[in-house]
Amino acid sequence: MKNDHSTLASWLKKTELLVARYLAQNESLETPVVKYSPPLELKEALDFSLGAPLNEDSLWQAVEKVLDKSVRTTHPLFLNQLFGGLQPESISAEWLSTILNPTMATFEIAPMMTILEKEVARKLSNLMGLKLGEGIMVTGGSNANLVGLLCARQFKVPDVKKRGYQGKKYTIYVSTEAHYSYEKAVHISGLGIDHMRAVRVDANGAMDPKILREMVRQDMAQGFTPLMIGATAGTTVLGAFDPIAEINKVAREYNLWLHVDAAWGGGAILSPTHRHLLKGIHLADSVTFDAHKTLNTGLIASFILCKHPGMLKQTNQGGGSEYIFHDYDNSDWDTGTYSLQCGRRPDIFKLWLLWKSRGDEGMAKIIDHLFDLAIYAKNKIETHSRFKLISSQYLNNCFQILPPNEFIDINQYTLKVRTNLVQRGKALVNYVELPNKTIFFRLVAANNQTTREDIDHLFKEIQESMELVDKIC
Ligand SMILES: Cc1ncc(COP(=O)(O)O)c(C=O)c1O
Repeated sequence: MKNDHSTLASWLKKTELLVARYLAQNESLETPVVKYSPPLELKEALDFSLGAPLNEDSLWQAVEKVLDKSVRTTHPLFLNQLFGGLQPESISAEWLSTILNPTMATFEIAPMMTILEKEVARKLSNLMGLKLGEGIMVTGGSNANLVGLLCARQFKVPDVKKRGYQGKKYTIYVSTEAHYSYEKAVHISGLGIDHMRAVRVDANGAMDPKILREMVRQDMAQGFTPLMIGATAGTTVLGAFDPIAEINKVAREYNLWLHVDAAWGGGAILSPTHRHLLKGIHLADSVTFDAHKTLNTGLIASFILCKHPGMLKQTNQGGGSEYIFHDYDNSDWDTGTYSLQCGRRPDIFKLWLLWKSRGDEGMAKIIDHLFDLAIYAKNKIETHSRFKLISSQYLNNCFQILPPNEFIDINQYTLKVRTNLVQRGKALVNYVELPNKTIFFRLVAANNQTTREDIDHLFKEIQESMELVDKIC
């Protein structure tokens, strides 16, 4: 079917009306964040099977059902994930990107988007002090960590692409609080999970550089070859920042690659008030940065930044010269050779348009607002007689809820309240279960739609869940 102008315009118009209605509903705290149903019940909500075509009215009804039963991540009380809300500029950019539909593989096909991506990579690198840095967008923070590891491997084992590891055992070092994507990167890259070392953390959840040094030393003595340290700036659960400058001393002493996963904490670089949290990031060899988290650009908007020009290309280049990476005047600008992907969406537009619209000051305001919410939430937790604050760092507040009497286990009680909250659907906040069975709420400030009043409302909802759970305890 050819896309004639009026058919396309009619689809877009209907979509626009639906989007406007949907987003307006999200502004009301009466709208549930989630209409919780178990999968088998949910399967009854709609005829999901494919076969005969639906007429247009039925089709739009089906679309409305899909929206209605989906989690409203732009709702102000969606506080479950390290992202939430959506910036209007980013929504526009996402739509336009779909219409343009370029692939970022070559300058020839994505000339404007390539320039935008280089500009933002340069800006972020400058802010972080990665002077000659370059960067490319990837399919998420997890994949940025993988590419960071692949760069480390290229640095330490320059002929690895051709000859593999040749029987050598390479080790990497991350903290016990690091994101699980490091473990994925280790098995995908063939290093082997047994060769990933989990370095103990201090009381705040930050990597202990003394233990790190000792582990590196012991591994070398036992014939392993240390390859990379994967620090974290803003851990997923506690929001801890590893001491990059101290860790860097170990990296330099033993000639290791230093990657910093700033997927969650990286946004702080945009705020003159809070960027001190990223002290030492200029020492990193590579950095993961997720704009879809604190900046709310919408999934996915992730960068891998690398201090060493040419390293991303050396690491990821391979194949495609016969049909896509032609030798032409502007082939130096082709970014497909830097990337693990062939087809690549112009995720950059969501971030660039937002930044261009708000300016540096506006970007700082986005981050500062989240800090304000986190501090506000911390105060509420601290002043409630039945909340027990476990940790409050960066944008993460972790807390448990005291049961009504001492015979009820605090962990199970906390989980019951959280389950009740999800089932009632008025707010969504994640929880953490540690290997020692400690369970707590992890309340993160990542959603720019959220206000202080919404945080008040959240605690009212939690209180209501507590009262309901108390009745059945
Ligand atoms: C510290 C950290 N690194 C990496 C990731 C993975 O990011 P993504 O979801 O973009 O793959 C997360 C996700 O929450 C994270 O918290």
